[in-house]
Amino acid sequence: MPFTRVLVRTVTGLEHLAAAELTSAGHRVLDLSKRQLVVDATQVILSEPPKLADDLFLIGASVDDPGRTKDALKALTRQLRRQLVVPLPHDEPFAVSASYVGKRTYNRYDVEDLVGAVIAERTGARYHSRRTSTPPEHRTDWRVVLDGDSVHVGVRPFPAPLHRRNWRQHTVPGSLHPPVAAAMAQLAGLEPGQVVLDPFCGAGTILIEAQRLEPGAEYVGADHAEASLRAAERNAASIQWQLGDAQSPQIAADRILTNPPWDVRLTIGNLTPYLNSWHHADSVVAIVNQHQVATLTGHPAWNTGSVHNLSLAGLHPTIVVLRR
Ligand SMILES: C[S@@+](CC[C@H](N)C(=O)[O-])C[C@H]1O[C@@H](n2cnc3c(N)ncnc32)[C@H](O)[C@@H]1O
Repeated sequence: MPFTRVLVRTVTGLEHLAAAELTSAGHRVLDLSKRQLVVDATQVILSEPPKLADDLFLIGASVDDPGRTKDALKALTRQLRRQLVVPLPHDEPFAVSASYVGKRTYNRYDVEDLVGAVIAERTGARYHSRRTSTPPEHRTDWRVVLDGDSVHVGVRPFPAPLHRRNWRQHTVPGSLHPPVAAAMAQLAGLEPGQVVLDPFCGAGTILIEAQRLEPGAEYVGADHAEASLRAAERNAASIQWQLGDAQSPQIAADRILTNPPWDVRLTIGNLTPYLNSWHHADSVVAIVNQHQVATLTGHPAWNTGSVHNLSLAGLHPTIVVLRR
């Protein structure tokens, strides 16, 4: 089966879990760095894209990072003119979105316009610069990442970034980024027949992502707020959502998969009584804030399986896996 080189973007802290997901799906991870993976992927990646990915691009060129000075950008144009292939031919308008690591004497728009000019030469399609205006809604999106070693230029083969899920119609304050929920489900090692409870279910993100990963388990979400349950019900009618306090669960679950309030927008206080009440479960996978981690890892009834520090929208939550 022919391989296609792709750039997978993910959340800081999920890179190794994303690599595990890609490898188990038969793709080859060639390089892993902060927030991104370069992968030799089979065509299956287009029909079954990785759930832990924020976004994915078919790579049209990988060339040397030109470095920090604006002068060096000329070398980038030359390299791209020589090497860029268009993995997904298109004649509709396109936009380019660039990011780089480290300080540079040029800005993202300089990179975008330079790369956009080469793509326009190659495709004949119209380039819309983000420097002066918002690009049209119907367009193809190209991405450029200067990671310090290489410049990867790729095109998105999907109509929207992968983190945007079709199932997500409603959110609540504190709703979780779906690829992070998918990572938690992956860490839980779910099996058919297990009963999985999210006692702080909110709009249901974690269980909905878990059900996509393991449809054979039984999922129950609980929340003490009616508005959360309404949102969850609209997002997934196939899961059982019930009103209840997280300290007195109405079912004996095998697995707890949850995102308690982080004391940012919603407060919760000490998590110990909640952990005590989940005594039926043989494993807990929870995403908590930096101050809540010690309560989980220090609880006498649980052993710490693993800890994963993330960086997400300016916050630094941690996924903690506890086992009996
Ligand atoms: C961080 S949000 C969960 C967000 C959810 N993971 C999502 O993606 O939408 C926390 C949820 O816990 C609920 N909650 C707070 N305290 C609770 C308690 N004692 N019992 C049950 N639910 C509670 C809130 O109503 C809120 O919906």
